[in-house]
Amino acid sequence: MNAMIRLPHTLSVAPMMDWTDRHCRMFHRHLTRRALLYTEMVTADAVRFGDRGRLIGFSTDEHPVALQLGGSEPAAMAEAARIAEDFGYDEVNINVGCPSDRVQSGRFGACLMREPVLVGRMVEAMRAAVSIPVTVKCRIGVDDQDPGPALDALTAAVAAAGCRTLIVHARKAWLQGLSPKENRDVPPLDYDRVDALKATNPDMVVVLNGGLLDLDAVEAALARGLDGGMVGRAAYQTPWVLADADRRIFGAPSTDIDRHAVVEAMAEYAGRARRDLGTPVKSVVRHMLGLFQGLPGARAWRRYLSETMPNPDAGPEILIEAAKRVAPERRAAA
Ligand SMILES: Cc1cc2nc3c(=O)[nH]c(=O)nc-3n(C[C@H](O)[C@H](O)[C@H](O)COP(=O)(O)O)c2cc1C
Repeated sequence: MNAMIRLPHTLSVAPMMDWTDRHCRMFHRHLTRRALLYTEMVTADAVRFGDRGRLIGFSTDEHPVALQLGGSEPAAMAEAARIAEDFGYDEVNINVGCPSDRVQSGRFGACLMREPVLVGRMVEAMRAAVSIPVTVKCRIGVDDQDPGPALDALTAAVAAAGCRTLIVHARKAWLQGLSPKENRDVPPLDYDRVDALKATNPDMVVVLNGGLLDLDAVEAALARGLDGGMVGRAAYQTPWVLADADRRIFGAPSTDIDRHAVVEAMAEYAGRARRDLGTPVKSVVRHMLGLFQGLPGARAWRRYLSETMPNPDAGPEILIEAAKRVAPERRAAA
């Protein structure tokens, strides 16, 4: 829609634990060259002390890609950010939105909505350690917080520390009584609150997240003055929503991708990942089950892969075989 918009934040794919690993990101990268892709959340201590290659290794083909960190200790977050920069990440993002018990006991994630000063200190320490952008992903509030002052206080604290980009999942997290999954659906979405945040912070890059199902919804957010849309579950479950993003959202000339070509490219990638990284083919294929969603043959594709991928000897050719069960794009569209 707007050929002038070029910031990668204009469209991003959300950080999702167990979902947006490097193989998923590579798949999404075959659907959009431009959208910013986020990793799963990795804790600062895992980055500092864990098997880094396994935890945060990625392919240069994934750029632009942002590492999401969880933590609450400014010095540890700064060290993890430095490691992320050395690995070649384009951005580090602080998780101030995840409500799981495991995360709360570590005093990070959504409960940090109550500690804007600490989040500001993390931003400050991380910015001093790296030259890549440090961004924050948050909720509009937690539990009985009033989303007005809560989000304003967090925004003021991170802005004062030099953070220019805030991604807001436009619902509260209820830390008592709801599972993480329920916390992604039950608290109501409040887009007006995020629109108001942008209106009062025009210099901040404000990205809307939560319930964006397709590019129409992202374009609607842009039309209301927001700087971008972050798409989570829809990008994973119906990945083809990303396929027209480079043209529609970033104003790039249209490219002629079709699903079968993506399957071939991913089969090649799965073969390489198996050979070079020892990655089971299933670890790549499991992210692709939704590729043909809505087309005749989608069920046969999904079923064939679900049946064959658990076999440890399964090779990348299962993707090619599965795709034969779906009509070629043009016939399917006719
Ligand atoms: C399986 C799954 C895992 C998630 N893991 C994370 C995470 O690691 N960090 C984070 O900030 N949000 C996480 N989220 C929340 C998403 O980033 C996003 O904020 C949420 O799903 C709302 O966006 P959506 O309605 O477009 O899915 C996760 C969501 C899902 C579905």
